[in-house]
Amino acid sequence: MRSLAKRLMTRLPRFGRSAASVRQSHSVQDYRALVRKKLRRMPDNPALALAQAIGADTMENFVSQGDGHVAVLRHHGLVDGMAIYDLGCGCGRTAQSLYRQGWQGRYIGADVVPELLAELSRQCPDYETRLNLTPTILAPNASLDMVFHWSVFTHLYPGESYLYTADAFRALKPGGKMIFSFLELEEAAHDRVWNVNLDHLRIGRPAQHLDAFLHRDWIRRFARDAGFAEPRFTDGLDETHHPAFWQSLAVLDKSA
Ligand SMILES: C[S@@+](CC[C@H](N)C(=O)[O-])C[C@H]1O[C@@H](n2cnc3c(N)ncnc32)[C@H](O)[C@@H]1O
Repeated sequence: MRSLAKRLMTRLPRFGRSAASVRQSHSVQDYRALVRKKLRRMPDNPALALAQAIGADTMENFVSQGDGHVAVLRHHGLVDGMAIYDLGCGCGRTAQSLYRQGWQGRYIGADVVPELLAELSRQCPDYETRLNLTPTILAPNASLDMVFHWSVFTHLYPGESYLYTADAFRALKPGGKMIFSFLELEEAAHDRVWNVNLDHLRIGRPAQHLDAFLHRDWIRRFARDAGFAEPRFTDGLDETHHPAFWQSLAVLDKSA
């Protein structure tokens, strides 16, 4: 009979090979490089370095933007006791606001950069984090009330966003919602991002990460294929129910 050690040895190379040979996705490479560059440049202020890596220029903006995220979630039904999944959670702009506000419930934040997740855990010790490099939601079937993500599909290929949408449907409870922000060419305010990208392309110098735009019709198609109802949209500058988000918002409902 083969010893346990021998049996383990025959298995280990499979793990080693798969981990080493899988090339990381563009967004994983780009965000890891961006976070590490910021931390190297600002060793005395890691919280600000991480906030800047996820798009907040000051800690004041980090806090007010996080509060804006939570206002959107509350408008769409967030209450205590829910199970929520923050896809591409970064260092916890939303999580830290939930924590400050004393929200009670199960929070799971997933991201592709370990340093961002470590900061979220440091700031919000009771919240769960998941490192996940695949376009999947790490939660059992029908276990979540909300899956949300801010400025994440803005950095992915459409196919990656499509796969995340399909898996969010699986992981949501009946009656659950996926809520997310996106960039679109129909919104004049988003031209700034589009034009910066064009400048990079014109001079042949790659941007530090992909900025992806989506069309509402593509989101309708993603939603339909996944099984969601017709999406609802909020313009980025609409401040009727919560502070203007700036990126456009989509809400996808899984019927009860
Ligand atoms: C602009 S930041 C937004 C962070 C956070 N959602 C917020 O609003 O504070 C984009 C986030 O997406 C994460 N990300 C990049 N590629 C990803 C992927 N393939 N799957 C999930 N998250 C990803 C990045 O690491 C980063 O934390």
